[in-house]
Amino acid sequence: MPRILFVVSEAHPLIKTGGLGDVAGSLPVALAARRTDDLRLLLPAYPEAVARAGQLKTLARFSVDGLASPVRLLQGRLPGTRVVTWLVDFPPAYDRPGNPYLDARGLPWPDNAVRYALLARTAVMLALGQLPIAWRPDIVHCHDWQTGLVPALLAQEKNRPATVFTIHNLAYQGLFPRDTFNLLGLPAALWSIDGLEFHGQLSFLKGGLAFADRLTTVSPGYAREIQTPEFGAGLDGLLRHRADRLSGILNGIDDKTWNPARDPLLVRRYSAHRLRDKTPNKLALQREFELPVNPEIPLIGMVGRMVHQKGIDLLLETLPGLMHRPIQLAILGSGEAGYEEALRVQAKRYAGQLAVRVGYDERLAHRIEAGADMFLMPSRFEPCGLNQIYSLRYGTIPIVRRVGGLADTVTDATEAKLKAGEATGFVFDDARGGALLASVDRALALQKNPRRWKQMMLTGMRQEFSWRHSAAQYLALYKQILREKNRKP
Ligand code: ADP
Ligand code: GLC
Repeated sequence: MPRILFVVSEAHPLIKTGGLGDVAGSLPVALAARRTDDLRLLLPAYPEAVARAGQLKTLARFSVDGLASPVRLLQGRLPGTRVVTWLVDFPPAYDRPGNPYLDARGLPWPDNAVRYALLARTAVMLALGQLPIAWRPDIVHCHDWQTGLVPALLAQEKNRPATVFTIHNLAYQGLFPRDTFNLLGLPAALWSIDGLEFHGQLSFLKGGLAFADRLTTVSPGYAREIQTPEFGAGLDGLLRHRADRLSGILNGIDDKTWNPARDPLLVRRYSAHRLRDKTPNKLALQREFELPVNPEIPLIGMVGRMVHQKGIDLLLETLPGLMHRPIQLAILGSGEAGYEEALRVQAKRYAGQLAVRVGYDERLAHRIEAGADMFLMPSRFEPCGLNQIYSLRYGTIPIVRRVGGLADTVTDATEAKLKAGEATGFVFDDARGGALLASVDRALALQKNPRRWKQMMLTGMRQEFSWRHSAAQYLALYKQILREKNRKP
């Protein structure tokens, strides 16, 4: 079995801001279950992660060029699992409260380049056997821009493990001024358009895209999309150039945490066999959101980061039309202050029909998935999306835009798909209010046919979204890379 070093900036339940944390907290567990026991999860020692990682022991103490004090590597476990977790402890970089990437005002920490370069340097030292630790990986699996320097730095070395870089979101690129490149003491050869330079700036993301032995995205659809100008964020040329190294592997979910039959956060647990028990969750949600408590009114839920990606502007534009329908809308999210404020204002205007909770609340996210009849994701782009998968699992019909992983996971309720018993939700094409509204209308019309509606709920609930298939695909990819590497002279 290959030895894998999994390098990432967040992992649930140690620390999470979005789907990346979900994936990093569950894929390693699935890989370990497939007897890839030799996996180490590496992330920064944020205070929250330190507090949750159980008993920690110091594995190594080492110095890094340019740092005045030593760095420590702490060893713990991913809570509730056997996954060995290594935390890079350097208090000046990581010992600060709150969001791992943003300060209290929602702005990126000014020293993010230094913070994630340190994570990368540690990964590289581990990978090259430069730390007093006997374990060395065969493969270093990196995720998103925070780890982009790892493949770039390792590519400069002869005797090195193979690298995989997974793109969870191309929109976050880790761009910094040219001066930062000098400040980080990166090899001069990396400053080129074939390297880390992106229109005169330093791009951490390009380090992964240009230098990793293999690139993956979190859905097959997104792997195709990012090779086009519309979704390529200026990097589609590079991605087309690397197309033979790029593939999409659909995210799985932690189907123990997200299981309505066992979810301790619900007021009543339910399953495909006990669908009736979903209703108490709806009533409780209406109560919690201070909406009229009535099982007959269609309740639409939404959970997510309030950013451009998620189509919040589209929702705002559509609100007057939506609020004309006999529906309730319950929203949980946080993100850009402008969107948060706009939604708060609208919630006052449409009190009793639209309810908004601004903040991050794991418990409420579960209760919305369970209590809503439908779940809305009008994303402009969506590399995979996990919430629509949770919705399918919870018998909550997703209404989504036909992009990325949303298109890969939700089957539109066309007449043919309904007849075939394959429909699981509603999918619309245009990023326009009219299209969103039309799909909500289709949903409301179909909900009046209880037999078909129930069939659709059950079809979604019975699908398998565990990591079983996808973990096997990652493992096959790891093995293929190693075979290729061994063949090379
Ligand atoms: P992204 O990673 O782009 O944010 P995903 O759909 O892949 O989108 O994953 C989002 C994850 O973060 C889900 O587990 C979702 O429940 C969670 N999440 C997002 N916003 C919130 C919030 N405000 N409160 C609780 N959980 C949230
Ligand atoms: C990103 C994407 C999201 C994806 C998640 C996990 O944050 O925005 O679509 O599900 O990563 O891969």
